[in-house]
Order: sequence, then structure tokens, then C-alpha cells
Amino acid sequence: MSKKITIAIDGFSSTGKSTLAKQLAKKLGYVYVDTGAMYRAVALFAMQNGYISLDFFDKETLINSLPFIKLEFKFNPDLGFAEMYLNETNVETEIRTIEVSNFVSKVAEISEVRAKLVEQQQKMGKNKGIVMDGRDIGTVVFPDAELKIFMTAGADTRAQRRFDELQEKGDPVTYEEVLKNVEERDYIDTNREDSPLVMADDAIEIDNSYLTKQEQFDAVLELVNDVTNPL
Ligand code: DC
Repeated sequence: MSKKITIAIDGFSSTGKSTLAKQLAKKLGYVYVDTGAMYRAVALFAMQNGYISLDFFDKETLINSLPFIKLEFKFNPDLGFAEMYLNETNVETEIRTIEVSNFVSKVAEISEVRAKLVEQQQKMGKNKGIVMDGRDIGTVVFPDAELKIFMTAGADTRAQRRFDELQEKGDPVTYEEVLKNVEERDYIDTNREDSPLVMADDAIEIDNSYLTKQEQFDAVLELVNDVTNPL
């Protein structure tokens, strides 16, 4: 049996990180962790408790509430992947709305939030055999990961993909709204002070603007094999 490794997948929003990570985890029998879901769940908690709105953000109260935020992934065998639970409630659907997307980058800027989530992520990965996607996995969470992928694609391609997904779910959102959200999140994610989105020096960049999901998966699987079964 080949050795178990840590696979870190980082990149801009809506680059298909989670699709690739899920495919890899299924093929390799690894655990998949969507760290964006954890930041989204904290943003949802802030919204539910009235700590954040369009013109207001009570960061202090959110920071003080962190000990009362319990985040868990529970595997759903019907779906074949783990769903996000916030304080024992399944929030998988709520965390994917455009409202949460509009607030999440502001929540993810807070160092205390990041420290709590990074610690939990590192615990989940201590036995390897994990595929984790996010923004800081190869740089902060697992700087020693054996394989680091950095995914990119043009903002318009990414907005179109996210728009199609939301439309399929019946979310009455416009393409322009989605594009604006993608561009705003790119800006905040790459310019924040704590753990900004940057490509790790030893990451492999994949621009998937013109790749099919299968082409991308095949290319990355080859990279995994190169690491787990070196010649
Ligand atoms: O991957 P996503 O779009 O679901 O992530 C939601 C937000 O969470 C994203 O705008 C930035 C933030 N995030 C982060 O700062 N660090 C991570 N490891 C994952 C997500």
C-alpha cells in the first residue's frame, strides 16, 4: 500500500477546489476537509446573533463568543461527504448562500477566528491521509504537506460557475452580484494581514480555466502518484 500523505489545495474562490478535493479523497480513501465551510459557519453564527450586518460588525463580541462555537464535520453516507454542523445543527445549506459569502471574508480576517480554526484543522490532519482545501493550507496549516496545489482561473469563469451552481439551487441571484462577490473576496483574501492567500513556494499551480474536471483530476492524480510511489 502506498504511504498516506497530506494534500493541501489552496486558491481563489470558486476555482473548483472542493470538487477536486472530493474526487481525490474518494479515489484515495482519504478524509476531505473543506475549511471554507468552517469560516462560513462562523460567519453564519455572527449573522444569526446579530454581530454582523451590512453596516455593522461587532468583532469583539464575536471573538468573546468563540468558545461557544462548536464546529464539526459529520459524514453523510448518502451524499458521500461530510456536512458542516454548527453547535449540533446541520448548516450545510445555510452556509452556501450569497449572504454568507458576502460576510465570510470579513470574519476570516480576524486572527482569533483563524487561530481557533487552524488549530482544529491541524488536529484533523495529524494522521495524514487527508485532502484539505482553503486559502492557507499549504502556507500555514500544513506547511510540510507532501503535495500542495494552487488553483486559479479567471474571475469571469469562476463567477459563471458559481452563478450556475446557485441558479441550480434556485437562489435568485444575478451574474453581476456573483461576479462582484468573487472580486471582493479575491481582494480581501489576498490583502488581509493574517495569512493572506498566497501561493506557497513549493506549490504547483493549476489554471483550470480551460481544463475539464476529468483532465484536471487526471493531472493531479499523477502528481499524487509521483509523491506516494516515487520511482
Ligand atoms: O472556499 P470558500 O469560498 O467556501 O471560503 C469561504 C471564505 O473563507 C473565503 O472567502 C475566505 C475564507 N477562507 C479562509 O480565509 N481560509 C481558509 N482556509 C478557507 C476559507
